[in-house]
Amino acid sequence: MSGVRPAAGAPVRPAPMERGGYNERSRLQAGGGAHGLPVIARAFERMPLGDGPLTIADYGCAQGRNSLAPISATIAEIRARLGVDAPVSVVHTDQPDNDFATLFALLRDSEDSYLREPNVFASAVGRSFYEQVLPSESVTFGWCSYAIHWLSGAPVASAGHIWGRLTTGEIRRAFERRSADDWRMFLTHRAAELQPGGCLVVVQPSMPGHEPSTFPMLMGWAQAELDAMAEDGTLRRSEAARMTVLCYERYPADVRAPFADGDFRGLVLVEDFLNDLPDPFWGAYQATGDAETLADKYVGFFQAPFRPSLLAALDPDRDAGFRKAFSDRLETGLRNRILAEPQPLMTPLAVHVSLIQKQI
Ligand SMILES: C[S@@+](CC[C@H](N)C(=O)[O-])C[C@H]1O[C@@H](n2cnc3c(N)ncnc32)[C@H](O)[C@@H]1O
Repeated sequence: MSGVRPAAGAPVRPAPMERGGYNERSRLQAGGGAHGLPVIARAFERMPLGDGPLTIADYGCAQGRNSLAPISATIAEIRARLGVDAPVSVVHTDQPDNDFATLFALLRDSEDSYLREPNVFASAVGRSFYEQVLPSESVTFGWCSYAIHWLSGAPVASAGHIWGRLTTGEIRRAFERRSADDWRMFLTHRAAELQPGGCLVVVQPSMPGHEPSTFPMLMGWAQAELDAMAEDGTLRRSEAARMTVLCYERYPADVRAPFADGDFRGLVLVEDFLNDLPDPFWGAYQATGDAETLADKYVGFFQAPFRPSLLAALDPDRDAGFRKAFSDRLETGLRNRILAEPQPLMTPLAVHVSLIQKQI
C-alpha cells in the first residue's frame, strides 16, 4: 500500500524515559511489575545454583525505582539457598542515553535499596537489549518489566498515529511484524546470556482479552492535540508525521508464538498468564471526586514515558523555548479534555507475565 514506505527518517530507537521524572510517575508500571513478583520464587524452585558467579540482569531498568522490589526478592531467594556469603552482581541495562545517574543515586540513597544488603554489587550496561549485552552463559536470573513492548525502531516512516495499535491495514501489519521480530530477537540474545537452567521473568503490558480498554481514548486525544498543532502551523507537518511512540503491546498469543513448536533457541516457556490491571487513578477519583488530581495522574502517566518520544521528533532547530511551549500546550490540551469530561482512561489495562527457562 502506498502509505507504507521504508522507515527512513522515522525514529530509529525509542527515546529514553523523562530524565529524573519517570521514577516519580511510574506507579502504574510498578503495579504491573508486582504481578511478576510471585513468579520469582517459582523460578528459583526450578533453578540450579552452582558455585559460579551469581548475576542478576535487569533489562530496561529506566531510573530503577520499579526494579528495587523484584531485585530484592531475587536476592532474598539467593540468600535463602546460599546464605549471605555468596556475592551477587546486579547489572541494570538500558539504552545508552538512559538516566543512569538517577538510578545510582537511588541505589545509594533509598531506604528500599538492595545495596543495603551485604555482598551485593550494582553495575550498569548502556546498550540495547536487542543486542547481546552480557557475556554468554553469565546470567543466573533475568528480569524485564514494562520494557519489551518498546520496539527496536519505527517500522514505517510515518505511521499516521502516535500509537501503532491505532493504525490500520498495511501500517498495522508492519507494526505486528516488527513486534514479532523484536520479541524473537530479544529472546535470542537472552538465550545466549542465560546460564543453563537460568530463568527470565518478563512482565509486559498487554491488552485485556475480554473487554475493550478505554486506553485508546487517551492516545486518541493526544493525537488530536498534535493534529491541531499541525493544522495551525505550530508543528511542521514533517515533525507531526514523525511523532510515534514506539510501544506495541502484545497479546498472550504473540508472546507464546516463538514457543509454538516447543523450545525457542533452547528457551522453554514454563508458564505465562494475563491479569487485568485496575486503573489506580480512576479508582482514587471515584473515592475523592478530585478531577484535578485525576488529570494530574493521567497527564503524568502520558508524559513521563511518551513525551520524550514526541520531543525527539522535533526538528533540530527547535529551541528549548519552543520545546517547552509545545510540551505545555500538549499537557494543557490533555488536561482540559480530562477536566471537561472526567472518565476512566485506562480501564482496564492488562499485564502479561511469562517465566522462561534455559534448558540445562
Ligand atoms: C517504561 S520503562 C520501564 C522501566 C522499569 N523496568 C519499570 O518497570 O518501570 C521502559 C524502559 O525500557 C527501556 N528500553 C526501551 N527499549 C530498550 C532497548 N532496546 N534496550 C534497552 N532498554 C530499552 C527504556 O529506555 C526505558 O527505560
